[in-house]
Amino acid sequence: MEVLEAIKTRRSIRQYKTTPVDDKTIELVLEAARWAPSWANTQCWRFIVVRDTSIKDELANTLSARNPATEAVRNAPVVIAACAQLEKSGYYHGELIADRSDWYMFDVALAMQNLVLAAHSLGLGTVFIGLFDAQKAASILEIPEGLCVVSMTPLGYPDQEPITVPRKELPEIVYYDKYSA
Ligand SMILES: Cc1cc2nc3c(=O)[nH]c(=O)nc-3n(C[C@H](O)[C@H](O)[C@H](O)COP(=O)(O)O)c2cc1C
Repeated sequence: MEVLEAIKTRRSIRQYKTTPVDDKTIELVLEAARWAPSWANTQCWRFIVVRDTSIKDELANTLSARNPATEAVRNAPVVIAACAQLEKSGYYHGELIADRSDWYMFDVALAMQNLVLAAHSLGLGTVFIGLFDAQKAASILEIPEGLCVVSMTPLGYPDQEPITVPRKELPEIVYYDKYSA
């Protein structure tokens, strides 16, 4: 699938078939994530591929009941948790050199965007999850000190016709030379 087409046709998927996703396919999407750019190529991202039903169930319970992706985490054949090693992105030899310490969010987001686009090009669905208890998820996944869980996505074959939610038009979000209200 061509890149612009993948970008435009990817949609959040919240209902999945039980059809398993084979290891080779999972490796392809992780490979896409691996090639994302990162701060000084520090590659702070770490990915946990969860297939275990009871762990998926526990992860689903870290989402609020009102989160529309809760059952997707429970029921999709795979969940990928995107984690970050802290104090790498924006740091040099352990010292913060950037004017902020959370560049890891940016790096992990880039890797995750690669992952979801690759998944979409292979006919798989995903949905970024941000509204969850990241500390509880870290405890479930036995994440050590110095790392955190940034986001998760279910991964599987879509079992829904996704709705396309509209985007702002370019004149609403683009300015030239200086910001103008
Ligand atoms: C940082 C981030 C966090 C998100 N968190 C959630 C979430 O917790 N639950 C959910 O159902 N969707 C979540 N989404 C998905 C957005 O709602 C979705 O991407 C947006 O509505 C646009 O729809 P589309 O992905 O189908 O184009 C999140 C997306 C992003 C980028």
